[in-house]
Amino acid sequence: MTDVIAKDLTPAFGAEVSGFDPRRPMDDDTRRTLQQLFDDRGLLVFRDLELSHAEQLQLSKLLIRKEALEEGEAGLEIEDNFYISNKKPGSAVPFGRLQFHSDTMWAAQPFEVLSLYGVDIEQPAVPTTFVSAAHGWAALPDDLRERVEGLEVLQTAGEVRRGDLTDVVVTTIERPPSTVTRIEHRHPRTDQTILYICEQMTKEVVGCSPSESERLLEELFAHIYDLATCWDHHWRNGDLVIWDNIAVQHARQNVRTDGPARTLRKVATPIPQLDFDQLPTYSTAD
Ligand SMILES: [Fe+2]
Repeated sequence: MTDVIAKDLTPAFGAEVSGFDPRRPMDDDTRRTLQQLFDDRGLLVFRDLELSHAEQLQLSKLLIRKEALEEGEAGLEIEDNFYISNKKPGSAVPFGRLQFHSDTMWAAQPFEVLSLYGVDIEQPAVPTTFVSAAHGWAALPDDLRERVEGLEVLQTAGEVRRGDLTDVVVTTIERPPSTVTRIEHRHPRTDQTILYICEQMTKEVVGCSPSESERLLEELFAHIYDLATCWDHHWRNGDLVIWDNIAVQHARQNVRTDGPARTLRKVATPIPQLDFDQLPTYSTAD
């Protein structure tokens, strides 16, 4: 019998889970409860966990029903030392602001699940902001829904500059990957419809003039990033946030290297295969 208790974080998405101990063997009931909760809510928050990298990875795979996969299988290349940090040497995106995105949205098969675990957090650490692109589609006004029907967009890891670029991290990639996807996107696991565009990586609507394309995207962004539906996670040590990278987008305000420590251990899976010249380096926009 499962002791898992879930509390909704927003009306549209997210749940905080208590009563779960990753150190205890998981029974089928608990596994099914967590998987269903993840499919329904798109993002789960656990507090005060003591979690190894292996346990973080196992829980991430379990939620997308790929717990049986071994490392190296089906494109899984797992690093046990991947950190988002403004203090830990060698970490990813150590500074700057990030616009809303889904990681590797420019890949044919992006990460299905992302998780961050708070290992060294000083207050006030910059929160991570989330928004649901599944809700974005479900709540899309009829006129916009009709206008995007059948349309495709170019998603790229290359430069996309729009909106307020103050403090935004610019990722430079020698040979940026890109892909074309439908705006009305079918989620491969849950079958939900996703409003599949993001301000950081969606370059243009295919087949439209640049001004038409930007006008439509701006309308869609204004809808999907409505502040009333965004949710901030304020980090503490021992927090674990796991989210569906296709259904839920993330962003953050400016992180400074001289600010409070903000070290998060990241697990992303399954990993798209990339060459060395398709990996990013980071600088600021201004
Ligand atoms: Fe990201």
